[in-house]
Amino acid sequence: MALTSIIKGTGSYLPEKIMTNADLEKVVDTSDEWIVQRSGIKERRIAADGETTGTMAIEAAKRALEASNLTAADIDGVIVATTTPDRTFPSVAVKVQGELGIAPGLAFDVQAVCTGFVYALATADNFIKMGQAKRILVIGAEKMSSIVDWNDRTTCVLFADGAGAVVLEAQENKNGLDGQGIHSTHLYANGKQRELLQTSGGPATTGDAGHVLMQGREVFKYAVSYMADVVEETLQHNSIEASQIDWLVPHQANIRIIESTAKKLDMSMDKVVVTVDRHGNTSAASIPLALDEAVKDGRIQRNQMLLIEAMGGGLTWGAALVRF
Ligand code: ACO
Repeated sequence: MALTSIIKGTGSYLPEKIMTNADLEKVVDTSDEWIVQRSGIKERRIAADGETTGTMAIEAAKRALEASNLTAADIDGVIVATTTPDRTFPSVAVKVQGELGIAPGLAFDVQAVCTGFVYALATADNFIKMGQAKRILVIGAEKMSSIVDWNDRTTCVLFADGAGAVVLEAQENKNGLDGQGIHSTHLYANGKQRELLQTSGGPATTGDAGHVLMQGREVFKYAVSYMADVVEETLQHNSIEASQIDWLVPHQANIRIIESTAKKLDMSMDKVVVTVDRHGNTSAASIPLALDEAVKDGRIQRNQMLLIEAMGGGLTWGAALVRF
């Protein structure tokens, strides 16, 4: 019998402060029309002073534990996907572990920018499948507002803050693809494209975190083709048709990229979880935020098949097939 990782429960946290496109018109030379037409974003959440990636991750983790009917004592690992840690070190994961009172066990951050959650999910899944952990908190959390240049209209209108979490639990799967759990994960990076989307600095170069620099048009082009390739690979690997997918849960960077992936899969947008209009691009947090929203409002039901996919700086990209 094969060991798999099931999603026991989900949770998320969004800062209270809403920043609309009209608010941004007062900050940079932009318009609601441009932002909506090019990205699909209408508003986004921005962390308050004192709110950090760590505090948002902790809140999302608490909610995921609650939804799983578990406590900190049940958890033996924490993996946080983030590009905007509270400090260069220690990791956000150890902050979550310490603050929630989780017993010593594995805890570390994963850095794959917007693909971070898929990387973290795959990493946790492998620990569970190897029998090295039983229940891992997998979190995507970002305070992107802390690394955007608020004078750069090409990026500051896109990024936002928030956190989402899932609890993965080891379980025997006797039913193959019909059984719950993570069926496959597919991770990629192409380091030759790292300059298309990067920060202007870092601890070992400028001594500060730097701000987001993006060649949007180029990234867009690769995003569309990498997403199409990796979802195709995921379907083929599992010998299933796109029609067997109940929900596409994509990274929320741009509605046009999401629509293009759905079209490639011949999936109606009714089967795609979309939050980009209200959340903006929360990088590694966007997928667990979207997942939690659709679970909580009843769209995603137990035993449905989910196709999760993301693309981001690196360039990195990846996908996961999960029966919820
Ligand atoms: N308001 C008004 N005009 C703007 C703005 C703005 N906020 N930003 C740029 N423009 C202008 C540009 O200056 C340009 O003007 P020009 O034609 O006179 O030079 C024009 O709008 C078009 O700019 P493009 O960059 O070509 O616009 P595009 O249609 O490509 O949309 C966008 C830009 C939304 C950034 C898109 O390229 C995109 O979504 N790219 C992919 C982003 C992504 O997926 N990133 C990966 C994940 S993020 C991560 O990993 C951190």
